[in-house]
Amino acid sequence: MPNSPVKVAKTPVWAREAHTKNARLIHWVEEVAKLTKPDSIHWCDGSQEEYDTLCNLLVDGGTFTRLNAEKRPNSFLARSNPSDVARVEDRTFICSKTREDAGPTNNWANPDEMRATLHGLFDGCMKGRTMYVIPFSMGPLGSDIAQIGVELSDSAYVAVHMRIMTRMGQKVLDVLGDHDFVPAIHSVGAPLAAGQADVAWPCNDNKYIVHFPDTREIWSFGSGYGGNALLGKKCFALRIASVMARDEGWLAEHMLILGVKNPAGEKQYVAAAFPSACGKTNFAMLIPPESYKGWEITTIGDDIAWIKPDANGKLRAINPENGLFGVAPGTNEKSNPNALKTLKANCIFTNVALTDDGDVWWEGMTDEVPSHLIDWTGQDWTPGCGRAAAHPNSRFTAPASQVPSIDPDWENPAGVPIAAFIVGGRVSKSFPLVFQAYNWTHGVYLAATMGSEATAAAVGQAAMRRDPFAMLPFCGYNMADYWSHWLKIGRNLSHAPGIFRVNWFRKDANGKFIWPGFGENMRALEWIIGRVSGHADAVESPYGFMPRYEDLNWTGLEFPKEKYDAMAKVDRAAGLSETVEQATHFAQFGSRLPRELELHRQMLVLRLERSPEVWEVK
Ligand code: GTP
Ligand code: SPV
Ligand code: MN
Repeated sequence: MPNSPVKVAKTPVWAREAHTKNARLIHWVEEVAKLTKPDSIHWCDGSQEEYDTLCNLLVDGGTFTRLNAEKRPNSFLARSNPSDVARVEDRTFICSKTREDAGPTNNWANPDEMRATLHGLFDGCMKGRTMYVIPFSMGPLGSDIAQIGVELSDSAYVAVHMRIMTRMGQKVLDVLGDHDFVPAIHSVGAPLAAGQADVAWPCNDNKYIVHFPDTREIWSFGSGYGGNALLGKKCFALRIASVMARDEGWLAEHMLILGVKNPAGEKQYVAAAFPSACGKTNFAMLIPPESYKGWEITTIGDDIAWIKPDANGKLRAINPENGLFGVAPGTNEKSNPNALKTLKANCIFTNVALTDDGDVWWEGMTDEVPSHLIDWTGQDWTPGCGRAAAHPNSRFTAPASQVPSIDPDWENPAGVPIAAFIVGGRVSKSFPLVFQAYNWTHGVYLAATMGSEATAAAVGQAAMRRDPFAMLPFCGYNMADYWSHWLKIGRNLSHAPGIFRVNWFRKDANGKFIWPGFGENMRALEWIIGRVSGHADAVESPYGFMPRYEDLNWTGLEFPKEKYDAMAKVDRAAGLSETVEQATHFAQFGSRLPRELELHRQMLVLRLERSPEVWEVK
């Protein structure tokens, strides 16, 4: 008799019963409840009925506005507190045993001291609220790549999000049985005194997003937003999972996964690491230009990839998520038509603007700007009022199953084979469109030195920062050890994917993007697929194998050779000064830095010293 109900505790107000016999889970829920003192406990079953009830509760409480049922059925708008709009990297901690295990790029805190701090913060923090027990699976239920976690949260907004973003509810408890899970505790940090009215977006100025990699635990306090609060995403699927992956011989990456089918019906998959807000969602749903008749792009995931070597020494990847938490601004019919189709119904929008007819709007959604809106702060908005209508990090939450380009294999428990890795950031100056690493080790060097211009979550950072593998805010251990792990994975592969670096963000002297981007990125992708299939040409540049103008397919795009050649130029002085900055970057890691990476840096120095002042592709 599997999973007959078990009474959770003697405490009277706990309305629901736990449909699990997992002793550790039941005990842990009791312990956390004793500490946080919620008014009630709700075990999420993941049903539609429960989702609807919670959404109505959020509407009644003022957190949600129900959108126009004709224009945007079953969809909601939430406005966060203006102080709670993005991940908070400076309040994110990796509490490994030693500072060195967390490495110089993470905020380390002593685990014992942090535990004491957290116990103080969580004591009574759920008073006046319901604690939701949210069992979730990252990855298709029952897949051996998948992992189960349980989030305890005092936010209904989090509970409904977790139903979209993960496989959530009773079915997870059924699969979990007596097995172990990753415990994740979340509180908005805003207890309510008896009779005290709640606010639409409770949160606390004192925020802590804490990871204990050694015991695989997550504690999050003070924020209700995105990666701070949806603990299956960055906290589990990247920070904790990267540690699991190190110990077990796989990879947990900040990567999209897409499929490319050519007119002959041959299909390949690639995974791409771009930093936050640098185009993963757009690339994952790319629609090829008109001239690409017979080509098809399919989507496996848009943010996170879990990748494992199979018995034949090939890498196979799954998307551990079940939904998209995508950047809204800039999403439109031209830039990402598939995203707009995905958003037609059953979505939650956070911090976008509300139109007079009860629909959503954000900067860059339509050419014509509405004459009146309610902006993301809830104020009246008119064009030219000097404020953005939607917050730059406003987001949509949508079921992955609604993505028109979703791949038939997106829930395949065995994952899909990866033929190429693509990495790239946002670099507006002197950087080529695309090139290929000479080999795996060189590819790891390219990804380890990757840089990008800053995004919403990195408050107060310099305009340009190194974001190795787009994992700077997400690697749960020492970044240099993570590079060693990548090198080790590569040594054991029989079919190592090619590694490529791209940049869609080069700007001209007037600050305009030189590369048209979006669908046109297909041209770089076609060349990448051609390279790993052994039929696309390239020349050796100081940086790597680079396509000449004639190696790319330009049919249907007006993009003169001079413009391409200008992007492909390698300026010796600029390149050398970059290698000096890389040396500083590497120096942070001391003796943990894999020697291969420093040797690749030195090889680049030599290649640059021996090249002309301006190297040109020909
Ligand atoms: P996270 O969800 O934060 O991890 O980010 P993401 O990498 O999924 O970001 P997303 O795809 O939502 O990118 C958002 C921003 O990148 C928007 O401002 C887009 O307009 C811009 N963008 C995406 N692709 C391109 C491109 O090919 N060219 C240019 N110029 N901008 C792009
Ligand atoms: C990112 O910042 O990379 C995101 C959004 O994907 S969040 O889930 O908030 O981290
Ligand atoms: Mn992301």
